[in-house]
Amino acid sequence: MSWPENVGICAIEVLFPSQYVDQTELEQFDGASAGKYTIGLGQAKMGFCSDREDVNSLCLTVVSRLMERHHIKPTEIGRLEVGTETIVDKSKSVKSVLMQLFADSGNTDIEGIDTTNACYGGTAALFNSVNWIESSSWDGRYALAVCADIAVYAKGAARPTGGAGAIAMLVGPNAPLVLERGLRATHMEHAYDFYKPDLSSEYPTVDGKLSIQCYLSALDTCYQLYRKKLEKRNPKAADLGLENFDAILFHTPFCKLVQKSVARLCFNDYLLTNKEKRASKYVGLERFDNSTLESTYFDRDVEKAFMTQFNNVFESKTKKSLLLANQVGNMYTPSVYSGLASLLVNVNSAELLGKRIGVFSYGSGLAASMYSIAVTQDAKAFEKFVQKLNYVLPALNSREKVAPETFSELMEVREKNNHAAPYTPTGSISALFPGTYYLKNVDELHRRTYERTPTISNGVH
Ligand code: ACO
Repeated sequence: MSWPENVGICAIEVLFPSQYVDQTELEQFDGASAGKYTIGLGQAKMGFCSDREDVNSLCLTVVSRLMERHHIKPTEIGRLEVGTETIVDKSKSVKSVLMQLFADSGNTDIEGIDTTNACYGGTAALFNSVNWIESSSWDGRYALAVCADIAVYAKGAARPTGGAGAIAMLVGPNAPLVLERGLRATHMEHAYDFYKPDLSSEYPTVDGKLSIQCYLSALDTCYQLYRKKLEKRNPKAADLGLENFDAILFHTPFCKLVQKSVARLCFNDYLLTNKEKRASKYVGLERFDNSTLESTYFDRDVEKAFMTQFNNVFESKTKKSLLLANQVGNMYTPSVYSGLASLLVNVNSAELLGKRIGVFSYGSGLAASMYSIAVTQDAKAFEKFVQKLNYVLPALNSREKVAPETFSELMEVREKNNHAAPYTPTGSISALFPGTYYLKNVDELHRRTYERTPTISNGVH
């Protein structure tokens, strides 16, 4: 077997809840000032799950759909990794639950297990999958990187930054989206910005302001390190800065933070440009000559100046990737990959051919990486790959809007019955999309059983 080339994402499947709450209505319901969630945070709708769905059911659905849509046989998978921070059975992995989908085929020879660190686990799953294919352990089969979470917060300031969803990525050689070798920059450190110390609750303990500072400082560090690695390979990249990327995707807790993050990267480029060149390239920003990264996390002046001057960078490289984040909310581990899916469904595929996409993944606690994806030059293969996502927009537009009162009641049901046993969920089954796995029952030993809503004829939902 020869050394695999162009390892990356061969197929991607996206899942979001069939129900959502409107953020304008939620502002009113919560007594927040009009515009706080929609303009201040940049969120339009928030997807949520009733007690009929949990992280296991989300993963069962997304993996089944990917294999059905792409006609992948269970025996073709040699590794399956799950990234999630939604913990149900603690010692028992979600991956082991997914093995039910492989039972009939007799394929139990599937490496990989769950990875947890807030919103970063999906990236760890993807990296592990790519690494396996590029390693001596590879046996020629595909890997599957799966990420899923139910992002819910207690009542209060953080609640509108919730969401839910799942993404599955089929990883293999000769992929339409290739993870560029040697271009990964990682930053990890100890921080209590967001964590889940109360194991009986789905809700995190969160220091919102600290989490934003941690996110932005991890972004700075990863970007500067990524630039160093890129410049070592190509010294000309130094002058290009963000122009090295044709699109940039971010983990998206809420869209406004991403808009600020693009400005933050422009500020990094500014600081990395020598003072003589700055004068011509950054007209009108001389007053920031002595500013530093550390002193400006919440500096409104810097934020506003760079957001205004480089709005075109946000518009051209990032805005289109925020569709699902804006319409569904923070999915946690799938968030940044929902950005990838949004970009693919929102941009004419010909425009992306041969382009470089930058990716910033962040998980509180904290773990962060920046890396890049090279889009294939093969127009036919890429077109085929993107066309498989043609269900995303119709599904997004066919969701059911639920009143904030009902949303709040459903959150209380989840809250009250989290880890209850025995338990039979009461959430609507008919509200779910076709082909959705749902929780049927939890028995007195906390064992969960799932059923599936009928699929549409050919298994394409
Ligand atoms: N119209 C327009 N904008 C408004 C209005 C209004 N009526 N009211 C407030 N705003 C703006 C504010 O000015 C602010 O924007 P700015 O920061 O650009 O000035 C924005 O809306 C949010 O308002 P805040 O008062 O800062 O919001 P609050 O502190 O109540 O909560 C927070 C925001 C901290 C993000 C909270 O939702 C939270 O804790 N979320 C979870 C943590 C999180 O997502 N962290 C990010 C990284 S970690 C992760 O991914 C989980």
